[in-house]
Amino acid sequence: MDNVVVIAGTASNGIAKNVARLIKSELIHIQSKILPDGESYVRIPEEVANKIVVIVQSLYPPQDKHIMELLLMMDAAKGYGAYKIVLVVPYLAYARQDMRFLPGEPVSIELLLRVLHREGAEMIITVDPHKPDSLVAFAGKYVIIKPTKLFADAIKENPNDIVVLAPDGKAIAAAQELSSILKTQYTFVEKERDRATGEIMLKSVRPFDFKNKKVIIIDDIISTGKTMAQAAKFAKENGAGDVIAAATHLITSGECCELMKASGISRIIGTNTIPNDKAELIDISGMIAESILKGL
Ligand code: R5P
Repeated sequence: MDNVVVIAGTASNGIAKNVARLIKSELIHIQSKILPDGESYVRIPEEVANKIVVIVQSLYPPQDKHIMELLLMMDAAKGYGAYKIVLVVPYLAYARQDMRFLPGEPVSIELLLRVLHREGAEMIITVDPHKPDSLVAFAGKYVIIKPTKLFADAIKENPNDIVVLAPDGKAIAAAQELSSILKTQYTFVEKERDRATGEIMLKSVRPFDFKNKKVIIIDDIISTGKTMAQAAKFAKENGAGDVIAAATHLITSGECCELMKASGISRIIGTNTIPNDKAELIDISGMIAESILKGL
């Protein structure tokens, strides 16, 4: 696509390069540095006037720095006279603060999406955002990519040996989708998180016999690993053999992977929306490239 340039932000994690190759467009790497006072600096080193500019920047930690860089890249592209700005944001930060859980809190995801639109993004492509409905706060066009099929391809097991487990109510849709692709059973547990301490408790758990089954726990995000660890413990206590954790976005902060392994999880599978050297990562670039080709 001659009229399209792909700009790789500092948090593209290789996706910009893959996407540019797949859609046959020019790839530009931004120049970036942190100034002595701590501010972010970026520069697009090539002219992008009259082009459709696809900026790829995932918003994984440090989220605020990556958000600021994204805004700076957008302004730099507008400064050249870009025809249209399309954002590829594989991991959309702040998506879990999608309501005022306590008085005085912001609705962070809505604020972020409003700012991105006001600053000139006409379209946003993102992967498995925490609550897809949050995207309605973005006044432009949006595309949501679900990687469930990629997880199904990565799990090459006999369907009769597998049970898919949703570790909380919000993950039931993904568990249903994965189990229907794999043609296997699914079940779920419900969790409660103490908003002050972050501790997780299982609640209203339906009994399920996991005997001789390999359990695939599927979720959108693994952050502290507590959700996965609780669900794995439940599966193990009910007879599960092997337990695999699959989640789109692996933030895996602190001792997350160790906690999950200690709870009996043998494999952690994610996607490359976030770099992670402790897990198996599936490349999401092909699905992003397809949505660009369809959506532009
Ligand atoms: C929350 O509803 C999300 O879908 C995930 O279950 C949650 O973010 C996982 O967090 P953690 O790994 O800290 O338990």
